[in-house]
Amino acid sequence: METPRRSLALFVTMILSCLILSTINLVHGKNSFRPPRISTQNNYLDEMRKIQGFKASLLERDSLISSLSTAPAPETGPLVMYRPNIYNVTSYGADPSGKTDSTDAILKALSDAVEGPSNGFLMNGIMNLGGAQINLEGGNYLISRPLQLLAGRGNLMIHGGSLKASNTFPGDRYLIELSDTNKNGPYNYEFVTLRDLLLDSSFRGGGIQVVNSLRISIDNCYITHFTTKGISVQGGHETYIRNCFLGQKITAGGDPDERNFSGTGISLMGNDNAVTDVVIFSAAIGIIISGQANTISGVHCYNKATGFGGTGIYLKLPGLTQTRIVNSYLDYTGIVAEDPVQLDIANCFFLGDAFIVLKSINGLVNGVNIVDNMFSGTNKGIDIVQLDQKNGPFTKIDQVFIDRNNVDGMNLKASVARRSVQGNGTSWNVDFNPILLFPDFVKHVQYTLSSSGSTFPKHALRNVSNNNVLIESDIPVQASVFVMVDQGKTHTS
Ligand SMILES: *[C@@H]1O[C@H](CO)[C@@H](O)[C@H](O)[C@H]1NC(C)=O
Ligand SMILES: *[C@@H]1O[C@H](CO)[C@@H](O)[C@H](O)[C@H]1NC(C)=O
Ligand SMILES: *[C@@H]1O[C@H](CO)[C@@H](O)[C@H](O)[C@H]1NC(C)=O
Ligand SMILES: *[C@@H]1O[C@H](CO)[C@@H](O)[C@H](O)[C@H]1NC(C)=O
Repeated sequence: METPRRSLALFVTMILSCLILSTINLVHGKNSFRPPRISTQNNYLDEMRKIQGFKASLLERDSLISSLSTAPAPETGPLVMYRPNIYNVTSYGADPSGKTDSTDAILKALSDAVEGPSNGFLMNGIMNLGGAQINLEGGNYLISRPLQLLAGRGNLMIHGGSLKASNTFPGDRYLIELSDTNKNGPYNYEFVTLRDLLLDSSFRGGGIQVVNSLRISIDNCYITHFTTKGISVQGGHETYIRNCFLGQKITAGGDPDERNFSGTGISLMGNDNAVTDVVIFSAAIGIIISGQANTISGVHCYNKATGFGGTGIYLKLPGLTQTRIVNSYLDYTGIVAEDPVQLDIANCFFLGDAFIVLKSINGLVNGVNIVDNMFSGTNKGIDIVQLDQKNGPFTKIDQVFIDRNNVDGMNLKASVARRSVQGNGTSWNVDFNPILLFPDFVKHVQYTLSSSGSTFPKHALRNVSNNNVLIESDIPVQASVFVMVDQGKTHTS
């Protein structure tokens, strides 16, 4: 015989079951039913437990939990279909020991994930997969073809394991490719997360390729043995690369083979990307940037020493650089910027005679701040900032501000300089060539002549040429002259 309380519990249970079923149908849509991969009694029981847990959490508030525990399980046959969208690659036959090829298995998991339940759209033409996860379950998998994702998908994550290219992997491809073309919208992918992965290209091709995508996260990845690029970003915007380690060869510095390092750690051929807290420990070029408005922060480059032909960060967007490099560590390798227009390098540490090169392409440099950095070298007389004028001199120089850097064992270069000279006579010449970066280029001079004694000489600025400043007086006088010059003021000031 049932008490009224128990009837109520049963009633609530039935209502809830219906609600849950209809919610599931709404969320999954009509055609997006995905048959369970491993449809066993265990899965069924798991789901039942989850649903009962959910009911319990609702009923607790009504103090009906005690009655529920004795209520019979409701009829919930079709509920076995409702599983979290986690695609465990071993369930598809991937071999986590890395002995046999897992390409087909992982591709099947990927295709199930991208064909799985979705919930509306993100950007135009990007299906929202709701946070589907491809779980590598901490395994090592050998793959012989790129893992390319179907375009037009978003809100998806691949995480938690290692991928290694087999010895037949194509040398011009990447282990993970977000490179398919979306015919239904302007971007190929949005909000795809690649996390906690070790990608080993086995000296065959690259690690990750992201083409024309939006809001992609590459987080805590270790990418090695690439011959082309560790990460390549082309088009699109907002690929965020953070907490990653990239190196062609696994080394901790001072490698006997360093002269032979090749390839590029990260290539950004798109706009608005960020690289934060990343180490690049071997590659000919650490980061190459040919898109606008990218930010580099907290990056440590010791990829290949300048002396061996390496470059830490190469900015290859002459005339439209728009790059900020802040709080980074250039370790025996420097920065090269072609015709920089709007470039900020601040609060960085340059070790081992590392320096910055402004490379002339069409002689343009405009809006450059190189400030508040520290440079440490080995007393070889190396300038902290240098010009490469092999293609012709810089002729359009404006708003260049190189100041407030400190040096130890290197030559300070700046766009602003102050010097004083003492003398007894009628002329005082101050040579700024040891400090000023640009030859024969002074836009602004200020001076003070200080003399004691009974005479008050007339004096004037007489000549500014070849970065020398000449002050003359009408009568001989014992005086100190203080001069400040600036190469960086704008034409309008
Ligand atoms: C996937 O694997 C994880 C850990 O191995 C496990 O906890 C989880 O239940 C699995 N999920 C599915 C859907 O198989
Ligand atoms: C660098 O590469 C060259 C040619 O590939 C090879 O002969 C040389 O031994 C390599 N250097 C080192 C230190 O391995
Ligand atoms: C400066 O030079 C003049 C002669 O040119 C000399 O008479 C005078 O003593 C000098 N003053 C000092 C402080 O050396
Ligand atoms: C300024 O100095 C330079 C170099 O000494 C010289 O060639 C030039 O004629 C001088 N200009 C004037 C106006 O004296």
